[in-house]
Amino acid sequence: MIRFENVGLRYGMGPEVLRDVSLHISPRSFQFLTGPSGAGKTSLLRLLFMTLKPTRGSITVFGKDIATISSREMPMLRRRIGVVFQDFRLLDHMTTYQNVALPLRVRGKEEATYRAEVEELLHWVGLGERMHVLPPVLSGGEKQRAAIARALIDQPEILLADEPTGNVDPPLARRLLRLFGELNRSGTAVVIATHDLTLMDQINARRMILDQGRLDVYD
Ligand SMILES: Nc1ncnc2c1ncn2[C@@H]1O[C@H](COP(=O)(O)OP(=O)(O)O)[C@@H](O)[C@H]1O
Ligand SMILES: [Mg+2]
Repeated sequence: MIRFENVGLRYGMGPEVLRDVSLHISPRSFQFLTGPSGAGKTSLLRLLFMTLKPTRGSITVFGKDIATISSREMPMLRRRIGVVFQDFRLLDHMTTYQNVALPLRVRGKEEATYRAEVEELLHWVGLGERMHVLPPVLSGGEKQRAAIARALIDQPEILLADEPTGNVDPPLARRLLRLFGELNRSGTAVVIATHDLTLMDQINARRMILDQGRLDVYD
């Protein structure tokens, strides 16, 4: 679904932060992206989500070369990818329910067509009792799960998550990981960026390891 060939990335005139990165993300696959802080995990996720362009090499997303696609096509491709950002990016003036429903509302869907679906997803991530409160009163773990629900509401083919267990205690981290596992079994490809090695010991998945801008993949 996504393929990188000899991708290089630099910010401005700085050094290359990613060098000769080649990888593929297959349908229904599950992989961790790991490496120390500053290794380039977030940068690589941004390339996967097409909010950054590579300075070298080629990237194809759902069969399209991103160097040549039009700005009209970009949102259609992005819609097939769900993202959980490290800082959640929830809108504080909207309830949990409204935040999760937002991608559907933006697409012009009528609430009657999606209300039950949003509520079911909120129950699935354990926020059934919290759907009508505003994000500022949610705990870190609850915000995390709200951000995950919002990334999933449009049934993406790939879920990208940046340090999704970074702000939660170990029992919740295990719960979130089970959630990602269930999601993966239902057919979604999952990419989780994390520097938490204990997390990776809990699931037998591909490991993509970044070190000094280079990527090694262990199947
Ligand atoms: N917007 C940016 N402008 C300049 N340098 C950046 C920017 N974002 C990240 N970097 C640099 O790129 C490198 C990789 O960062 P990042 O992708 O955030 O790594 P990680 O997520 O693994 O901690 C770091 O050296 C960081 O300072
Ligand atoms: Mg990061």
